[in-house]
Amino acid sequence: MATSMAASHAAGKRLKDAIFGANAACREAAEKYGAGKVTNATIGVMMDDAGKLASIPTMERMFRSLSIEDYMSYAPISGLPAYLDAVIDLTFAAHKPEGYFGAIATAGGTGAIHHAVANYAERGEEVLTSDWFWGTYNVICNECGSYLTNFKLFDEAQNFNLADFTAKVDALLMKQDSLLVILNTPAHNPTGFSLTEADWDGVLALAKKHAAKGKKISILVDIAYIEYAGEKNETRKFMEKFGSLPENVLIMFSFSMSKGYTAYGQRTGALIAVSASKEVIEEFKEINKYTSRATWSNINRGAMTLLTRIQQDKSALAQFEKERDAFYKMIQNRGALFMEESKACGLNALPYKGGFFLSVPAKDPRTVCEKLHDDFIFAVPLRLGVRIAACSVAASKMKGVAAKVRNTLQAIEG
Ligand SMILES: Cc1ncc(COP(=O)(O)O)c(C=O)c1O
Repeated sequence: MATSMAASHAAGKRLKDAIFGANAACREAAEKYGAGKVTNATIGVMMDDAGKLASIPTMERMFRSLSIEDYMSYAPISGLPAYLDAVIDLTFAAHKPEGYFGAIATAGGTGAIHHAVANYAERGEEVLTSDWFWGTYNVICNECGSYLTNFKLFDEAQNFNLADFTAKVDALLMKQDSLLVILNTPAHNPTGFSLTEADWDGVLALAKKHAAKGKKISILVDIAYIEYAGEKNETRKFMEKFGSLPENVLIMFSFSMSKGYTAYGQRTGALIAVSASKEVIEEFKEINKYTSRATWSNINRGAMTLLTRIQQDKSALAQFEKERDAFYKMIQNRGALFMEESKACGLNALPYKGGFFLSVPAKDPRTVCEKLHDDFIFAVPLRLGVRIAACSVAASKMKGVAAKVRNTLQAIEG
């Protein structure tokens, strides 16, 4: 019998990382045939058209200008106060709803999602997200003692499937008194989809219906890719709807510096909450601070300082936003090219609105991805399809990918 020293609840934990495997195969091919030959659509960070890690120049300049104290001193457990104020402003821009606000610094967006699940999902109960989803949600739920379950993100017309969302929420609230819902929008990973204003009206009407029956509804909006979804205020319009909701509907946001600041490795983000209840926000601040103390204590002071310095310097901010916008357009062009070509060749790609990734449904994603290696295309097999990274594939290499995916799908699925 194999020996395990792990506690019974921890034994058997294994992180399955489809992305890592796909990336390794790509590296091997690049070594064998030359990097110019391969299309690496597996990477989750932004690469410029020369294949180099894209870094926002003003971010880089200001980060390098910080003092050793900024990098090395401890930060308060909840985060630097100026950082917390800034991330609330950044989250909502011109569309701040009515209500009370709270924020807590977290280790990336991942840390924010962790805290939301740890503190707003009952242990042993279910958390709801869409069937196309970032796999880490599942890992976090398991780690926190809850279970992730799904609704169908798309209906037959590839619109938001409010009917399935409603059916799942109704069913869960037959057996649970509270529910945490995670919605990754705008610019969803892995599809690039965004909920419309009308979709949000449907979601919130449902939340209110259950709240009126005494249920507690928490919605975590994962905005990791919001800076690559379109114009700042346009993409945040839906947030005004979060004002004056019932006190037993809590809206939270997972904010991340990873993509928006091209600061992936600095592990800096925030969990932000808006509520009509002051008490709910006071509680939010206390319980999340406690969880921070128990996980990472305090987070990266240098990166928090970087964000506030950029915010406080008007001309640096304008320059920073301009540079980031150029990167947004770079990715958007790659995505648009793929979508145009998909349409032209009859490939059923999911509706990409923005962000780092787009996806194509497949019955056997693993086989499709393996077969694509014959064309030197490396993509990530998910449960429901194939994910292609618009963030990492130069437009020159994106050309023709859609047709190759369609041909491969046809060869395998007929
Ligand atoms: C959907 C989604 N949410 C959140 C994150 C958070 O990233 P990080 O922890 O680096 O901030 C990611 C990163 O890949 C993501 O894809």
